[in-house]
Amino acid sequence: MSKTYLTTANGAPVADDDTSISAGERGSLTFDNVHLFEKLAHFNRERIPERVVHARGYGAYGTFTLNKDLSDYTIADFLQGADKKTNVFLRFSTVAGGQDSSDYVRDVRGFALRFYTEQGNYDIVGNNTPVFFIRDPAKFPDFIHSQKKDPKTNLPDPAHHFEFWANHPQAMHQITILMSDRGIPGSLRHMNGYGSHTLSLWNKEGERFWVKWHFKTNQGIETLTNDEAAKQPGDGMQRDLVEAIERGDFPGWSVKIQMMTDEQAKQCEFNPFDLTKVWPHKEFPLNDIGTLELNRNVGNYFAETEQVAFAPSNLVPGVGVSPDKVLQGRLFAYADAHRHRLGVNYQQIPVNKPICPVHHYQRDGVMAGASGCSVTGHLQNADVNFYPNDRSDAPVPAPQFGEPSMPLENHAWLKAYDSSDEDNYSQAGNLYRIMSEVQKQQLVSNIVDGLSQATESVQSRMVEHFTRCDEDYGQRIKALLLK
Ligand code: NDP
Ligand code: HEM
Repeated sequence: MSKTYLTTANGAPVADDDTSISAGERGSLTFDNVHLFEKLAHFNRERIPERVVHARGYGAYGTFTLNKDLSDYTIADFLQGADKKTNVFLRFSTVAGGQDSSDYVRDVRGFALRFYTEQGNYDIVGNNTPVFFIRDPAKFPDFIHSQKKDPKTNLPDPAHHFEFWANHPQAMHQITILMSDRGIPGSLRHMNGYGSHTLSLWNKEGERFWVKWHFKTNQGIETLTNDEAAKQPGDGMQRDLVEAIERGDFPGWSVKIQMMTDEQAKQCEFNPFDLTKVWPHKEFPLNDIGTLELNRNVGNYFAETEQVAFAPSNLVPGVGVSPDKVLQGRLFAYADAHRHRLGVNYQQIPVNKPICPVHHYQRDGVMAGASGCSVTGHLQNADVNFYPNDRSDAPVPAPQFGEPSMPLENHAWLKAYDSSDEDNYSQAGNLYRIMSEVQKQQLVSNIVDGLSQATESVQSRMVEHFTRCDEDYGQRIKALLLK
């Protein structure tokens, strides 16, 4: 068998990879050490910026199988015809920690799902919680700063978390979930995923339906207490996922949607586009539409899991967004982050490349390649680079895929949206009231662990917020703080 020879990146065979060319035993190195310099220089550039949030993550490929034809509601090709299968990539993550933080922290878990559809990539960039801490994107950087490490000590500080929350009662619902037993999942396989936002579907008649996506674990919910979590190895959740897939024990989720018509949305007593709220199941039941299975580990962590670039703005015909203000902010934030982290041609990286042909008039930029002869193999080969043009074979817009127009509220005014009179408490209270006694005790104890480190002013405002969710909830926290 012929040997595979080591080469430089430009393909030339390398004669020696162990020693450097030098001017004798005690002499310095020379400039003809081209292989050495390339090796050192490339090594210096192995790291790219980690994600500003959700830096620690683990991805896997899988299959979404539709079990119900949704053509009455959407023209999306991956939702047509029962039994339709679509390849997916799912990346789980923690939010606040860096790439090398522990898997077993009390934190929200990311649940970012890409559907590689025949009409382009559709991303549902959700979490393992159905709601979120804020309802206005302007608060996101402040919120994240309060959750990350202290800028001086570089240490985590729960007092900061509660200081932010005391000033933002819109977080009460999500705090109640985060501090509950579900705040530390037993494994990534044993938790639900949620699209969280209200998203939409639209059909060929131009009708729009508001939807919420739910991914219910088929493995059953498992959770860990703080003490149990503290005993786990830092990378245990990643290991559990990789090993389950390797041994063919493929994790699965039942995929469900809640649906609301425009008329129902107008009549709804709460704002259905408020990310701090769920849609009660009794009024808006879960409809089973398919299954999600993870069945293939990545071949290369960096190339795939690190470079995958999810974006709520990755939409396909038949699906759309909603007036949820946080979602609107996210439509900007993700693609912007990818251009910074991966470069402007990030959608040419194989894990981000659509399975359908891509035809556009974007040209050049870092790492752009011509079809068939580049690292990325993306289409840059159409010789015409402007539109409109007179060529019969050049790409043209497809008006049949235009999203139905979205009506504005009557007499809408452009102004700062003040949500201080929103109901921040009822749904958090509802959740508290469905918890068992053991869950309530765990919740209260988890809250007091962190809250006891905050100032007295923060403590008393938080007790007031918890009491407004549920009298018993607030009083238990107060009593434990005084102990
Ligand atoms: P239901 O009784 O119909 O549903 C309760 C839901 O709560 C179930 O989906 C259950 O998930 C989930 N749940 C139970 N414990 C926790 C927890 N510690 N953290 C997060 N979710 C939990 O009630 P409603 O639809 O009227 O909602 C009542 C409350 O339930 C809401 O205020 C909300 O906090 C919570 N919830 C509601 C969801 C919704 O979409 N309506 C979704 C998730 C939570 P599971 O079935 O997996 O056990
Ligand atoms: C990652 C911004 C709210 C889920 C990110 C990233 C940014 C970001 C910049 C890093 C992207 C990258 O570098 O690849 C924001 C902003 C928000 C917001 C500005 C609000 C205004 C949310 C919400 C959810 C969410 C509400 C879930 C419901 C995620 C997930 C990831 C992520 C899962 C990781 C994606 C992956 O696995 O690569 N977010 N985010 N974010 N965000 Fe958000």
